[in-house]
Amino acid sequence: MIFNQWYAILESSEVKKGKLLGVIRFGEKLLFWRTHEGEIACIKDRCAHRGAALSKGKLVSNSQEVQCPFHGLHFDRTGKCTIIPSRGEKAFIPSNFKVESYYIREAHNFIWIWWGIPQDRYPDIPWFDDVDDKFHYYTLKDPWKTHYSRCIENQLDVSHLWIVHHNTIGRGNKKVSDGPYVDFSDNLEKVWVTNRKENGNVSILPSEIEKPPHPSLVQFKFPNMWQNKFSDVARIIIAFAPVDEENTILYLRFIHKMTRIPILRGIISIVGRYFSKIIAHQDRRVVETQLPKITAYKMEDGDNLFPADYPIVIYRRIRDEMKKRKI
Ligand code: FES
Ligand SMILES: [Fe+2]
Repeated sequence: MIFNQWYAILESSEVKKGKLLGVIRFGEKLLFWRTHEGEIACIKDRCAHRGAALSKGKLVSNSQEVQCPFHGLHFDRTGKCTIIPSRGEKAFIPSNFKVESYYIREAHNFIWIWWGIPQDRYPDIPWFDDVDDKFHYYTLKDPWKTHYSRCIENQLDVSHLWIVHHNTIGRGNKKVSDGPYVDFSDNLEKVWVTNRKENGNVSILPSEIEKPPHPSLVQFKFPNMWQNKFSDVARIIIAFAPVDEENTILYLRFIHKMTRIPILRGIISIVGRYFSKIIAHQDRRVVETQLPKITAYKMEDGDNLFPADYPIVIYRRIRDEMKKRKI
């Protein structure tokens, strides 16, 4: 993991008022709930007494606190224990009776967790400048059985389209990848896809290709947001929620503003999500087989890359640098 980053890890609608939600993210069992006022609380899903899952308990004190199902201890949204029933409600509570809590924000219909050390001032949520909240979509929540690094790299991979997606977005047999041209700044990696048919010429290297005049197709915003800008009025956005070392959940949105007519808008979103799912599952079938499941810039006994993998090299390099910096 890259520490001290905002990660989109759930969709807003998954955390409902009056309900406890236990999920695994970053290999940790986390508990979410929404307070009476609508704010989101997140603490570890592990009681400070003897380790029971708090998500099996219940909300109390007007949804300000959770009660453990085992011996009834109360914990507030900061993870502090407020009552130990077996000691009586007035009893002093030792400071070790505390569960770790996390800083949460809600934006763009995602729930974002600050994964790292608490800060005096938090940076902005990593989002795309050109994506406002006027786009319409229905989200596809799609579990993939592999580490998030493989899932992200697949979306930066320009040379698999002609084979994996031969009957969908990769039609046309454009096997040869010139470049691709890649730009990286402000935690945003931009990739221009310049594939063509075999014509007897070897591919142009990434170091030799000129920057194409049109905007980039694929963009990745560290640490876990991606978009495919195939049109000004329609695109695909994916948040890669890290579950553990062998599992990721993709929150995939086909977003569009093709029309304002509600019924038509809904139909387009449903059809867009349907086709996005077909394409994502063409990828998933192969990506889940990749070994090792976790990648790094320097992999022992790892992959052998070719020039079209340049966006993946950049992703790995930046990710490893950020991991080391612990910014
Ligand atoms: S394990 Fe939670 S109160 Fe005992
Ligand atoms: Fe793909």
